[in-house]
Amino acid sequence: MARLKTAVLISGRGSNLQALLDACAEPAFPAEIALVVSNVAGAYGLTRAERAGVPTLVIDHKGFDGRAAFDQAVDQAIRAAGCEAVCLAGFMRLLTPDFVAGWHGRMLNVHPSLLPAFKGLHTHERALEAGVRLHGCSVHFVTADLDAGPIVAQAAVPVLRGDTPDDLGARVLVQEHRIYPLALRLLAEGRLRLSGGVVEIDDATRAPESALVNPAP
Ligand code: GAR
Repeated sequence: MARLKTAVLISGRGSNLQALLDACAEPAFPAEIALVVSNVAGAYGLTRAERAGVPTLVIDHKGFDGRAAFDQAVDQAIRAAGCEAVCLAGFMRLLTPDFVAGWHGRMLNVHPSLLPAFKGLHTHERALEAGVRLHGCSVHFVTADLDAGPIVAQAAVPVLRGDTPDDLGARVLVQEHRIYPLALRLLAEGRLRLSGGVVEIDDATRAPESALVNPAP
């Protein structure tokens, strides 16, 4: 079985990268991580990749004259490594439309909210301020608009009384680690089809129809 060669782009601790590395450690998983790129030297995710025996590269955006030049360097590196797909995993840089277009339908991002709610930063603080009862995370295809691409998978968690942003973020993160490998699997199996701005999933395992209700009835 040919496995989908995937690049993971990170900026920090790399816990989602770890979830992807763990999934890819299964011989039957249909993707492999061929390269991890960080724009931040010393990001802990680089250590995680090295431990898993995955090649790493630091491409520091500060060394480039503008976004386009940085993105071109990243693009060249991941293509040179033979990558056919890209996962953004806590990669805290905006990508240029040219880069995004070059990976159309082949680049995923994980975002810590139930999109389209709470795009951008500080999602857990904003969810608490808004008083939502359910919060969560999304994996979506990357498009030129920030956090706006077609959604592949989502998980919801309850917001509990007394939650701090860190409490809520930790609850969400557990679910990020579940849905990101799931989404990469579906992509690698060729089961995701973009249709009019939404994702159709071939032979998706149906979620139970029961709802997560908070507070419990
Ligand atoms: C994750 O919560 C991810 O959803 C978020 O950054 C964190 C990275 O954690 N990404 C974004 O906010 C992108 N808009 P990790 O480095 O431990 O995977």
